[in-house]
Amino acid sequence: MRETGPMTATPLTAAATAAPSQRSAQRGSYWITTFGCQMNKADSERMAGILEAMGYREAPAELEADLVLYNTCTIRDNAEQKVYSYLGRQAQRKRTNPNLTLVVAGCVAQQEGESLLRRVPELDLVMGPQHANRLDTLLAQVEQGQQVVATDEHHILEDITTARRDSAVCGWVNVIYGCNERCTYCVVPSVRGREQSRLPEAIRLEIEGLAAQGFKEITLLGQNIDAYGRDLPGITPEGRRQHTLTDLLRFVHDVKGIERIRFATSHPRYFTERLIDACADLPKVCEHFHIPFQSGDDAVLRAMARGYTIDRYRRIIERIRERMPDAAISADVIVAFPGETDAQYRRTLDLIEEIGFDQVNTAAYSPRPGTPAADWPNQLSEAVKVERLRELNALVEAKAKQRSARYAGRIEEILVEGPNPKDPDQVMGRTRTNRLTFVPAARPEGGMWQPGDLVAARIEQVRAFSLSGTLA
Ligand code: SAH
Ligand code: SF4
Ligand code: F3S
Repeated sequence: MRETGPMTATPLTAAATAAPSQRSAQRGSYWITTFGCQMNKADSERMAGILEAMGYREAPAELEADLVLYNTCTIRDNAEQKVYSYLGRQAQRKRTNPNLTLVVAGCVAQQEGESLLRRVPELDLVMGPQHANRLDTLLAQVEQGQQVVATDEHHILEDITTARRDSAVCGWVNVIYGCNERCTYCVVPSVRGREQSRLPEAIRLEIEGLAAQGFKEITLLGQNIDAYGRDLPGITPEGRRQHTLTDLLRFVHDVKGIERIRFATSHPRYFTERLIDACADLPKVCEHFHIPFQSGDDAVLRAMARGYTIDRYRRIIERIRERMPDAAISADVIVAFPGETDAQYRRTLDLIEEIGFDQVNTAAYSPRPGTPAADWPNQLSEAVKVERLRELNALVEAKAKQRSARYAGRIEEILVEGPNPKDPDQVMGRTRTNRLTFVPAARPEGGMWQPGDLVAARIEQVRAFSLSGTLA
């Protein structure tokens, strides 16, 4: 499997390990390229698991694979265009190798549907994200000679196949699919559909399975994870929803073997004090919060239909820092949203200056088909986008560097994910606050640190987005 550069993600790093799967008839080899966010990656891992259960094995290289699956992203235009250039290459290959099976899954598939087949007639299967768990059924139709498009609204079934995960240490666990928000720039609700929460028991079962396989860290995933449970029935005696993210964290917290729990992505509109208190009280929940703010200006936030003010955002961060003073805060932000004035853009810079983020994913606004803001007349020029993004990125890096400085000389717990691909004498892992950290691979008592080991490291070098240490 390959990723083409994460959109908002914590990159997966550990060496690939195949989960055992019951193999049926030997089929050919497969290759999956993942273009999107963590949810998209989690879908890829489940689809890889299904392929292996069907008898496919992973191809050594994309150009040798008998089945090529692109799990696509359409969050911005450049993500979508990348897919078309990749597809062009495979379509050409198919003309000389008619046995090649070509699959487009994910968010471009959902957005384009049938029209993808017109654009790339060589495709065998176009399938939206809600159909990921049905890959085997859909491929059976392909094997009967059909060209298949699966993009209808679909109730997501519990997946019974074992995902084939990229990491043996850190596992993604979907807890809610879809998004019911209507941010005016965003294509996700139309490609990922309505919110569907999984039942807490199913989530816990998956986490217990991961723990049994030796996983040490889990990240609970949802596009708007604070919405978890609002589509599930049940009211507590105190009159609140029975199923919330806070309750879920408490429900899964004691799974033996899991040392660290993370969750993403948080929405400032729904982030509660109750959740902050639970994170502070539950020892496995890591002190890292990814809470996109998108803009530092209230009028822009209103135009984006985000449903909170900057004051509310500040209060959330203050409360987190009251309870967990060392917490890392990361975010996403968009510049050059339609109509954003220079003064409004400066407020975004001011907020970054003020909060001191550990990491910010930045993007220039990209008009997306079918979203309200794409049709507004007050679009900004490419030149403004480029200039604002450049200045913003420089500030983000400077602030990240300042935040990294606090680690110098400290002893940090690192969860080893695997070898440093650039230096075999080092392993890499993360602090609880999610800073990538490199430490010597050799253990003092002989042998090497292995993925899943917890290492106490004294931090000696600090860089904007990573640290290096020695054994403490
Ligand atoms: N659910 C998350 C974000 C999901 S999309 C949230 O609500 O914050 C990931 C990020 O892509 C967003 O946070 C946003 O910063 C960016 N993004 C989404 N649509 C975009 C667009 N049309 N142009 C530029 N960036 C966009
Ligand atoms: Fe998109 Fe808004 Fe939903 Fe996030 S909350 S996925 S930005 S619509
Ligand atoms: Fe991209 Fe779809 Fe995720 S559009 S960011 S892969 S939800």
